[in-house]
Amino acid sequence: MGIIVAIAKETAAGERRVALVPEVAAALVKKGLTVLIESGAGAAAYYPDALYAAAGAEVMPSRQALLQKASVALKVQPPTAEEIGWMRPGTITVSFMNPSRNSETVRLMRDAQITAFAMELIPRITRAQSMDALSSQATAAGYKAALLAAEHSPKFFPMLTTAAGTIRPAKILVLGAGVAGLMAIATARRLGALVEAYDVRRAAGEHVRALGAKFLELALDAEASGGYARELTPEEKIKERAMVSEAVAKADAVITTANIPGRKAPRLIDRDMASRMQPGSVIVDLAAESGGNCELTQPGKAAVVNGVIVLGQENLPSQIPFHSSRLYAKNQQAFLDLLIGKDGSLSGDFSDEILAASLLVHQGRVAHEPTRELVEAAA
Ligand SMILES: NC(=O)c1ccc[n+]([C@@H]2O[C@H](COP(=O)([O-])OP(=O)(O)OC[C@H]3O[C@@H](n4cnc5c(N)ncnc54)[C@H](O)[C@@H]3O)[C@@H](O)[C@H]2O)c1
Repeated sequence: MGIIVAIAKETAAGERRVALVPEVAAALVKKGLTVLIESGAGAAAYYPDALYAAAGAEVMPSRQALLQKASVALKVQPPTAEEIGWMRPGTITVSFMNPSRNSETVRLMRDAQITAFAMELIPRITRAQSMDALSSQATAAGYKAALLAAEHSPKFFPMLTTAAGTIRPAKILVLGAGVAGLMAIATARRLGALVEAYDVRRAAGEHVRALGAKFLELALDAEASGGYARELTPEEKIKERAMVSEAVAKADAVITTANIPGRKAPRLIDRDMASRMQPGSVIVDLAAESGGNCELTQPGKAAVVNGVIVLGQENLPSQIPFHSSRLYAKNQQAFLDLLIGKDGSLSGDFSDEILAASLLVHQGRVAHEPTRELVEAAA
């Protein structure tokens, strides 16, 4: 029997994405792989079973039977304890693993002799760009964040000149101009808003300006020898805070996207700053899952605090499930191309830089050092 790629339906609350779309299923089948998919796995993303069947995949009603047969199990969210229990030792599973917050899942996979790759550990090198699911999903999140801001704002985003008077364009502030932030900027610009953005990385300024937004900069130069940024002095940090606070107070909507990988999100907006915003202003906190960039954010919830609408919705990519799934499936396909050698076999040699970095658990051992420490500390 050749390689069996299995896709179970996602079971996490609110998760509408699916790890494989019919187009990618067809490509895998063409490569000689057997594709098994749980009935209804793509339904919430509007990929019906019939399309998978037409692509050459076998649609199966039983998740248990499917996972018992899998050589490679693809998911979006980490496998559940039940799913891990069904997989045979040596099964390879590839998904987001969120290892810093899922040490129990990692321990279960270790003890079950599962081989697990974590999508978020794929290094951000040029060769791995096609596999970069953090970027593909951040693109979806940034887009949706701008739409949520527009939807919840009591104002128009574009400038309007009407017989009943002129409406000024909305002012949007984006804090953190990485992948999600840049997509939020581009989307808000397309809606006609005036956009400002800030990031601790000065290099982000060029990308921000290319999108027609203003990059907020302090009147200081924090470039040290070798082109690296130096840490701001306490005095400069006060100036930075004052600049951000000023911009927050003037904004009709603030979209925060600042994250530090594997760490709690930096706190950029405190209660004090938010209290200076006009009633009807909106804060969309994309970092809600990692602790929030705003002190007022309640993860997973929307709240109105002193007239300011604070949105802490989690998993925004899942709200655009059709295209988020497609991008994610393409990332998975590129990863599988690497994992399954040109000869169509699973070699088990994970010395390639990308495989080595993203290998989380293998042969009863946690391969990723920081996660191993977490798992051992929890034991
Ligand atoms: N293959 C590649 O080469 C590759 C792939 C993806 C991303 N990248 C680059 O990596 C960078 C960040 O990627 P990301 O979006 O995944 O990052 P991220 O989600 O970890 O963080 C989002 C942004 O928040 C910023 N940030 C952190 N602390 C902040 C603070 N206190 N105030 C303001 N901003 C703060 C970060 O600088 C980053 O730009 C981008 O430059 C991106 O282009 C490179």
